[in-house]
Amino acid sequence: MTDPLLDVRNLRVAYPSAHGYSDALRGISFTLGREKLGIVGESGSGKSTAGRAIMRLLPPKARVSADALRLSDVDLLTASEAQMRDIRGGRVAMILQDPRYALNPLKTVGAQIMESYRIHTRAGRAEARDRTLAMLEDVHIRDPRRVVDLYPHELSGGMGQRVMIAMMLIASPELVIADEPTSALDVTVRGQILEILNERVEAQGAGLILISHDLPLVSDFCDRVLVMYGGQVMEELAARDLSQATHPYTVSLHASLPPLDHAVDELIVPEYDPSWLTEIRK
Ligand SMILES: Nc1ncnc2c1ncn2[C@@H]1O[C@H](COP(=O)(O)OP(=O)(O)OP(=O)(O)O)[C@@H](O)[C@H]1O
Ligand SMILES: [Mg+2]
Repeated sequence: MTDPLLDVRNLRVAYPSAHGYSDALRGISFTLGREKLGIVGESGSGKSTAGRAIMRLLPPKARVSADALRLSDVDLLTASEAQMRDIRGGRVAMILQDPRYALNPLKTVGAQIMESYRIHTRAGRAEARDRTLAMLEDVHIRDPRRVVDLYPHELSGGMGQRVMIAMMLIASPELVIADEPTSALDVTVRGQILEILNERVEAQGAGLILISHDLPLVSDFCDRVLVMYGGQVMEELAARDLSQATHPYTVSLHASLPPLDHAVDELIVPEYDPSWLTEIRK
């Protein structure tokens, strides 16, 4: 078997708090090939912390340890900061919820995508401009020659997210981490954006981690799913089996989804049992 793209073993992260350190990840493990892995779980379960740990973008005071944290041939625990700068945006890209915070408001869309390409490929200006126009077309922007000269505030939410995808994928990363990439968007464009992300990830043969609290979406879009709760992986299963999940937490997450076909008076709140966390640690 070839080595996985990503190998995460017993990853622990603790953040400083008023009363010493508090655990955000309590030893999560998973591997990823060139496939689509969903990470679901309630707010605060540690999903974004896992994504940021892989990018080594946690605050300096966070305490991180793992038995392994590897991207193919690179040990992410010991890589130098210079190596990490090459890896971020070059080999691993991260797409966040709201493009308005990730794009520089003072630079045109074209300048930012070109810069992202040139930093990681050392290409010249003319080549970078051609690639930028082609990439904008790849994310289904109809009029790339006009859009390259726009500033981020001139874009709609959906267009902004396409620009982000173009910028993040132009250097052909091996791994894309998308943290709630569509939750800031209007429901009507969510599907389109995911479709575009899917197309690019498949065309480039990259691996994808899709972080979301939207179970049906993840179950449609991904190959495999990790269900997280309290900084641990409760369950790992094929995405198509998500509706048949057996762990009580996953079952209660499902039960708490409001039905689409009729109105309800009361929404069900997932129920928790503290013993789930201790069971896993054994
Ligand atoms: N920079 C930080 N400093 C201190 N604590 C943090 C920091 N970032 C996250 N935490 C804590 O770590 C835990 C996990 O947070 P994380 O953001 O990873 O959750 P999440 O699953 O992404 O939640 P959400 O669905 O709301 O985005 C939470 O208890 C959170 O309060
Ligand atoms: Mg998060």
